[in-house]
Amino acid sequence: MTTKDSSTKFARIALILAAGYGERIGKNGLPKQYRRLGGRPLLCHSLQCFLTHERIDAIRVVLNPSQRPLYEEALEHLQSQENLLDPVEGGATRQQSARAGLESLESLAPDVVLIHDAARPFVTHEDIDACLEALAHSKAVTPSIPLADSLKQYDDGVLRHTPRDSYRLALTPQGFNFADLLQAHRDLADSSFSDDAALIECAGIPVTSIEGRRDNFKITFVEDHLRAEIMLNSQAHPRTGFGYDVHRFTSGACIRLCGVDIPFEKSLAGHSDADVGLHALTDAVLGAVSAGDIGMHFPPSDPRWQNSDSGIFLKHAVHLADQEGFCIHHVDITLICEAPSLAPHRDAMREAVAGILNIDVSAVSIKATTTEGLGFLGRGEGIAAQAVANLSPKAVP
Ligand code: CTP
Ligand code: MG
Repeated sequence: MTTKDSSTKFARIALILAAGYGERIGKNGLPKQYRRLGGRPLLCHSLQCFLTHERIDAIRVVLNPSQRPLYEEALEHLQSQENLLDPVEGGATRQQSARAGLESLESLAPDVVLIHDAARPFVTHEDIDACLEALAHSKAVTPSIPLADSLKQYDDGVLRHTPRDSYRLALTPQGFNFADLLQAHRDLADSSFSDDAALIECAGIPVTSIEGRRDNFKITFVEDHLRAEIMLNSQAHPRTGFGYDVHRFTSGACIRLCGVDIPFEKSLAGHSDADVGLHALTDAVLGAVSAGDIGMHFPPSDPRWQNSDSGIFLKHAVHLADQEGFCIHHVDITLICEAPSLAPHRDAMREAVAGILNIDVSAVSIKATTTEGLGFLGRGEGIAAQAVANLSPKAVP
């Protein structure tokens, strides 16, 4: 946390509860708050939403100490960590985790605190706004939704009907007067409530209901995770990236183009293998996921990349795209030079690129052209390449 010094008043702080084990989703795989959703750990979705909300002054995650490396890894997926406080360790129950988070905020003494389940990735700025607005008139606020299905009491295999109209399901973020909630937690430390609204109600403070959204559901079972992936997928748009590169000729007997060695009376100069086609394509893939350019990831000043196979660069870009939830759908490369003639090598180059990208060769287009003798390319001083990469949101597993 860098932006505010310790003397700064934090009026509104959010706690994200992420210390559970996610037992109901199953023990195979990561705890649910760190499972991938849209290419990022699930926790990142709600965390990002709070971090980018202008009226939330600081955010703290309550984590499970055994999951600290997963938390550290998740942070790498955030665009900014501004206003993120150091995490604190939670307890064996949700109530204990919330208490630990609240105790850790005592010295900061915010006016209000919002408590959110890390397992609800679809929280929006509007949800946070609604909570903050209602807190202006109430000491405890909870979003709730009516029941869609009939409500029954279950008793040893027998169902007893219960009229549902007066019942609601409670969601998060729930908002509270900080001092009141901390006091309620201290007073009721021996209880085990499933949310903070229940606890503060027990302490005698009425809970104001605000309209919740069904899409702000909690990922609890495997089916919820699948539904979340489908929702994200339908929201995600395809991406296009463009890349351009030039390498000059130097003395030699062979050039490497799009992963293929082509005999020629010269070579291409460069720190790596100077594969101008793969460099342009790497930049196109990086561009599609806004991940910078090839020089940022593989600086020419780094001796590790001397004479390196440029396929490594392209594979790294594909890996980054995969992490962001995208796969390569189609690429189109244009190579520009007077010589050598590239048509005889086109199919080999397409095969090589398809192999690196692990896609069908029909999704790889390679074209060649000249500049009609004009300019530096026309004078035969080097080769240029342009590339376009089309990426699609990854299919739901
Ligand atoms: N939580 C927590 N500390 C706990 C238990 C839960 O911080 N000891 C958090 C969870 O990480 C989750 C939220 O509270 O973000 C809601 O709890 P729940 O959905 O029950 O998550 P889990 O307890 O992890 O899941 P399960 O009950 O299936 O084990
Ligand atoms: Mg639980």
